[in-house]
Amino acid sequence: MSAATFTVQLISAGETYLVRNIVLRPGRSVKECYFLGDDAKGTFHLGIFKDNNIIGVASFMKNSNPFFDHNTQYQLRGMAVLPQYKGQGLGTLLLKEGELKIRKEGKEPFLWFNARVSAINFYNKHGYQNFGQKFEVPGVCEHIIMYKLLES
Ligand SMILES: CC(C)(COP(=O)(O)OP(=O)(O)OC[C@H]1O[C@@H](n2cnc3c(N)ncnc32)[C@H](O)[C@@H]1OP(=O)(O)O)[C@@H](O)C(=O)NCCC(=O)NCCS
Repeated sequence: MSAATFTVQLISAGETYLVRNIVLRPGRSVKECYFLGDDAKGTFHLGIFKDNNIIGVASFMKNSNPFFDHNTQYQLRGMAVLPQYKGQGLGTLLLKEGELKIRKEGKEPFLWFNARVSAINFYNKHGYQNFGQKFEVPGVCEHIIMYKLLES
């Protein structure tokens, strides 16, 4: 199926919870799908839709990481595509759309995040680099910081 069948839109924090719950917090309560910063002023959320059904989400929070000194830092959180839609370029669409928006936000646009180790290859393919050592997020899985300067 072509990615052209799908639409990416700005959504509210609340609209991310269903997909976060299924993909990132399976079997846990919806309450655990709320992330600190979800409703902060600088946060935006993207959803990908097929026939008005939400099938993928990503959140971008204006949040600086003390390890980096770039001006306009965003943190990617809650990147998730429903299992039956994986591998069709939808994660790529969400990431590219987020990057495009952040590039317009200011000098040295920079995106970083705590990546699940299982997703490192996906992000490497999109030019993200690893930073530091892997670490365990309790009750979730092993993560590593990844980043990319979005200019040029
Ligand atoms: C990580 C994740 C968001 C990626 O989303 P996705 O929609 O599967 O990603 P894409 O399809 O854009 O790219 C993934 C793979 O599909 C391939 N692909 C891209 N476009 C494609 C297309 N049109 N047709 C077939 N395959 C395609 C990519 O090359 C990539 O290959 P890989 O498996 O060797 O890495 C998704 O797999 C997911 O939700 N995983 C579980 C949760 C998770 O780990 N989230 C990230 C937390 S940091």
